[in-house]
Amino acid sequence: MIIAVDGPAASGKGTLASGLARHYGLPHLDTGLLYRAVGRAVSAREDQPGFEDAAIAAARALDASHLADVAELTSARSGVLASKVAVIGPVRAALFDYQRNFATQPGGAVLDGRDIGTNICPDADVKLFIQADSKARMERRARQLESRGVEVDRYALYHQIEERDARDMANPNGGFYKADDAHLLDTTLLDIEAALRAAIAIVETTMAHK
Ligand code: DC
Repeated sequence: MIIAVDGPAASGKGTLASGLARHYGLPHLDTGLLYRAVGRAVSAREDQPGFEDAAIAAARALDASHLADVAELTSARSGVLASKVAVIGPVRAALFDYQRNFATQPGGAVLDGRDIGTNICPDADVKLFIQADSKARMERRARQLESRGVEVDRYALYHQIEERDARDMANPNGGFYKADDAHLLDTTLLDIEAALRAAIAIVETTMAHK
């Protein structure tokens, strides 16, 4: 069974995807980490000539060992860099096989990202599109950072999330939209447990009708 989980920054898609993976005993890939790792590899060249070519080379050279330092990769800075390399078509193409191979391993997998249901796994058994309003997403991200001891400016964070959304939505190479056959799950008013229960219910219903 392949489960595709897409949605905007801080929508809770990662938490839901790992919860689903645990529930069904499936391996999980947070595909945002791939873009974050590429972004980190070229951070020194940000907004400079050669940035694109360097990002393409980094994407082609990427392997699992680059994804190990999750704490650093999940920083806000890595997120901004990730959204900048994610607009480069050949970067997306270079990361395609890694994601596709992960998805098609025997037994299945859960992948979360932005274009899993549209580009990476258009044939996924279950597709979820996670939504939550920007304020709720900002608050979740703020608490996540605070739990790591990071001081948070909520106003700045809100704008950062809106900015990331705008860049992601404008991505011409993206495919960041809800696939026609994806199930919309709005988590604005749901806590983690309730969201996971709702996601499992969608998976069960979808699989029962297959
Ligand atoms: O989900 P995230 O915040 O870790 O994603 C970081 C950036 O990577 C995001 O701005 C868009 C990009 N991304 C992408 O283009 N395609 C994906 N499948 C996952 C993430």
